[in-house]
Amino acid sequence: MAELSREQMVAALAWQLELGADEAIGELPVDRFEESAAPSSKPAPDGRAAQSAPRTAPQTTSPAAAAPPPRDAASDAVAEAEAAAAAADSLEALRAAMAAYPHCELRHGARSLVFADGQPGARVMIIGEAPGRDEDIQGKPFVGRAGGLLDRMLAAIGLDRAAPAPESAVYITNVLPWRPPQNRDPKPEEIAMLMPFLRRHVALADPDVIVAMGNISCQALLGKRGITRLRGTWAQALGLPCLPMFHPAYLLRTPSAKRESWADLLSLKAHLLETEGTGG
Ligand code: URA
Repeated sequence: MAELSREQMVAALAWQLELGADEAIGELPVDRFEESAAPSSKPAPDGRAAQSAPRTAPQTTSPAAAAPPPRDAASDAVAEAEAAAAAADSLEALRAAMAAYPHCELRHGARSLVFADGQPGARVMIIGEAPGRDEDIQGKPFVGRAGGLLDRMLAAIGLDRAAPAPESAVYITNVLPWRPPQNRDPKPEEIAMLMPFLRRHVALADPDVIVAMGNISCQALLGKRGITRLRGTWAQALGLPCLPMFHPAYLLRTPSAKRESWADLLSLKAHLLETEGTGG
């Protein structure tokens, strides 16, 4: 392969950053202590140390670890999540149950468990996909660029995650509490094992309506993808009215879609006004 110029290398790195690959982390943790304890080279017959083997890419997954878990292991993980979530009788207890839940590998690559922000009991609960880099660092959902846009969108209809009153407050969480490596999409089995926690989270936060931000959230809450078709049409999720909307990260990349999102915000505002005082 032809050598890359400095400019080409910088451009390739910028492209990876743009795609969310901003950290050199793999799918699974690697035990470097174990690696360095293993004998790396045999002594040569003449007593000299052998030349070290040519460097290869570090192996991040063993074949067994890369294979999908056996069926009953996956359903055990879901059953365990169901039991842990059901036993949580407060948001604090739910956060602790999630922190103690051992089956989701994402926890090992993330810095923080990103639980929620805003006011529990707010009429509107926003459910995004998963923490990104900024959220992982700060331990709060939607605090990066997409979060800044989300705050401005909410402010346009008089909502604010810091507002104390339930009518003007919002409560914000994600389908996944841990950042997936390189911001990749969550796997179906990861969503399945974390859904019991999300269901309990919604029950304990007790909103009147849910806003499902983006495809992953619609997949988890409505069992459907295709946000371009779904957005703007009220549905039911977990027994509550649910409005699918474009994810703010998509709006940052596609400003022309802000027009549709403005219509969705107005629909949310109208629903809140129509149902004020009815508990719906
Ligand atoms: N995108 C999400 O879906 N959630 C966050 O918390 C941040 C970015």
